[in-house]
Amino acid sequence: MKPLTPREIVAQLDRHIIGQAPAKRAVAVAVRNRWRRQQLDRELAREVAPKNIIMVGPTGVGKTEIARRLSSLVNAPFIKVEASKYTEVGYHGRDVESMIRDLLELAVAMIRAQHADTVREQAEACAEERLVSLLLGEAIGSDDSRAATPADPGGATGEPAAAVVETNPVRQRMRQKLREGLFEDREIEISIRHKQAIPIIGGAGPDQLDPGFASMIEGILPERTSRRRVTVARARAILIDQETDKLLDTDKIIEQAIERTEQSGIVFLDELDKVVAPGDGRAGGADVSRQGVQRDLLPIVEGSAVTTRHGVVHTDQILFIAAGAFHNASVSDLMPELQGRFPIRVELNALTRDDFRRILTEPDAALTKQAAALLAVEGIEVTFEPEAIEVMAELAAEANAGMENIGARRLVTVIECVFEQISFDAPDLAAAGDTRITITPAFVRERLAAIMSDQDLRRFVL
Ligand SMILES: Nc1ncnc2c1ncn2[C@@H]1O[C@H](COP(=O)(O)OP(=O)(O)OP(=O)(O)O)[C@@H](O)[C@H]1O
Ligand SMILES: [Mg+2]
Repeated sequence: MKPLTPREIVAQLDRHIIGQAPAKRAVAVAVRNRWRRQQLDRELAREVAPKNIIMVGPTGVGKTEIARRLSSLVNAPFIKVEASKYTEVGYHGRDVESMIRDLLELAVAMIRAQHADTVREQAEACAEERLVSLLLGEAIGSDDSRAATPADPGGATGEPAAAVVETNPVRQRMRQKLREGLFEDREIEISIRHKQAIPIIGGAGPDQLDPGFASMIEGILPERTSRRRVTVARARAILIDQETDKLLDTDKIIEQAIERTEQSGIVFLDELDKVVAPGDGRAGGADVSRQGVQRDLLPIVEGSAVTTRHGVVHTDQILFIAAGAFHNASVSDLMPELQGRFPIRVELNALTRDDFRRILTEPDAALTKQAAALLAVEGIEVTFEPEAIEVMAELAAEANAGMENIGARRLVTVIECVFEQISFDAPDLAAAGDTRITITPAFVRERLAAIMSDQDLRRFVL
């Protein structure tokens, strides 16, 4: 797959997020730089440190949304975490290293899926052979293992059966019928293996345990096998999964996943401002623990070795993109060392009335498109007069100015208020043949007038 150019990444983000060009450009360049670095020779590549980013901007202007959309664009392990979810080592809660473990798990799943693709055909063939055996077994009233006679080594021993040259005409006929889809809904019994979950030990959940210890426990826990009756269609999916597992080289997958995590992993660290104590940071109580989270974050961002149940992950090259509103605290309230690890700062702007108008209409899944699509299901065609959109944007901006500024989130409640009655009446309107609705400026004002004029009601509803 060809990596996207910065321009292409920005273009993709533009489909969902209005404005905020500097932030889009910064993340696009950062992502592209990972790829550039990978093309360098190893010596030099080691020297090129990732240029971590902090996005600063008021609440509800698209910081998290950029991360969310970016994650689907980059073909790299990407995890979004909230800094405020972590606690200092020793306190109750998740420690910051767990984000690297989660990132690795993602990479493992990614690489596993890639490998699974390469053995799919073989796994499907093996699964088919086992299905044939199971169906024949049920037909003559024996079980899975007895049906797996020496002519069919696949069922019992797990060796790929597809390689065996088929001579048995009964099996041939069964396979033919299976392929024709004659048995899809028939129920058969198969065995399903599953690992038990790691229990809570001494009040500590699995991810608070030492990773080595956790994987040891995982090894000790017996694998449980249960037999279940499922349809052939469902059994096929399960058997393909089981056969895929047998064909995959787990060690290689882990090795590649660690490599991928180290070389192209991206951590989006949201709500970074929530672990900053306002002012000089010398306050007591909860602030001490926040400062502690920063201290714990530092080695990970600077580059350290994190032990996971799959092995050690070095974090030197992982890209961190942080975001925060920073309205109570400022970036300079972060520990100086941490500030130094985030050389790129981008600001997101507060959204204007005009931005609101565009957000209401332009993104691929803009709120007005969503509202219209939902009502189309009822057979009602909604159109918006352009001025009606203007009024919604204006009232949202007014509400933000009058109360707390919650950015584009305000638009959601505005739309809900406008459509409250229509949503309720929709089926009746459709039944009465009243299938066209035009949203006019007057209608919007009327719907929102009562709310906008009543201070208390406004606080509550919008
Ligand atoms: N510039 C924008 N264009 C389109 N939609 C936006 C924009 N900004 C915000 N939104 C919408 O508003 C909602 C909130 O945005 P988001 O979660 O990105 O806020 P945030 O900047 O992370 O705020 P916070 O600091 O409170 O976490 C999302 O549903 C998002 O789709
Ligand atoms: Mg956010």
